[in-house]
Amino acid sequence: MSDESARPVPADRSSPPTARPIRSFVRRFGRITRAQRQALDGDWTRFGLDFVPVRVDLDAIFGRRAPRVLEIGFGNGEQLLASALADPARDYLGIEVHRPGVGHLLLGAAKAGVPNLRVIAHDAVEVLDAMIPEGALDEIRILFPDPWPKARHHKRRLVQPAFVAQLATRLAPGGRLHLATDWAPYAEEMLAVVEGCPALENEAGPGCYSPRPDWRILSRFERRGLGLGHAVFDLAARKRG
Ligand SMILES: C[S@@+](CC[C@H](N)C(=O)[O-])C[C@H]1O[C@@H](n2cnc3c(N)ncnc32)[C@H](O)[C@@H]1O
Repeated sequence: MSDESARPVPADRSSPPTARPIRSFVRRFGRITRAQRQALDGDWTRFGLDFVPVRVDLDAIFGRRAPRVLEIGFGNGEQLLASALADPARDYLGIEVHRPGVGHLLLGAAKAGVPNLRVIAHDAVEVLDAMIPEGALDEIRILFPDPWPKARHHKRRLVQPAFVAQLATRLAPGGRLHLATDWAPYAEEMLAVVEGCPALENEAGPGCYSPRPDWRILSRFERRGLGLGHAVFDLAARKRG
């Protein structure tokens, strides 16, 4: 990342930091293929942004001013790449901690030569807090986040009140938050968290889920959920104001 795109700005503490940092992932040292490794080494300067503890200038990073979509926990990045290719008028930023997944996405991005895609390989909770300016995003997507089904692990779920309140501060007025899961108890919790956030309004109406959006492709995790007989829940909310 160039110094220009990571210009420090005064610390902005007008939005509440998440009360206690969420540890929503366990570092998996899954097999990384040689091609993924080469993509991480060779294509990072083209698509990757290093974590920096300062607000970044996303216009400078993308080289234009356009609406921006953030996908958190993109897995192998197939949805992110498909969306960036299908929607060239918007810029797409992805955050993922799993390096083989990041390598997989970089391989596809380099092959497709997609101009409107950037990636951060770091904890999204820290990235949101430190790097993303308020009101900078048109849409945020969290698709099939780890459900952490055991009660003692619920504190590891990404979709929690403080984090969702912080996500809302990063959305522009009228911006959208889109969540999807195949884990019914988590879907109920998402509904309660989103409807409990005063800055957001459930697009489908109180207590309702949204229809599957046409941009959402079938991911590995969704396919697995469907294979287990799970229903899939989409939840879309709009930032008020
Ligand atoms: C169940 S997978 C879903 C992947 C993808 N969204 C899909 O639908 O196929 C959840 C992903 O979120 C990532 N993840 C979890 N917590 C994260 C965090 N705090 N920051 C970045 N990525 C995170 C995990 O590494 C994992 O790849």
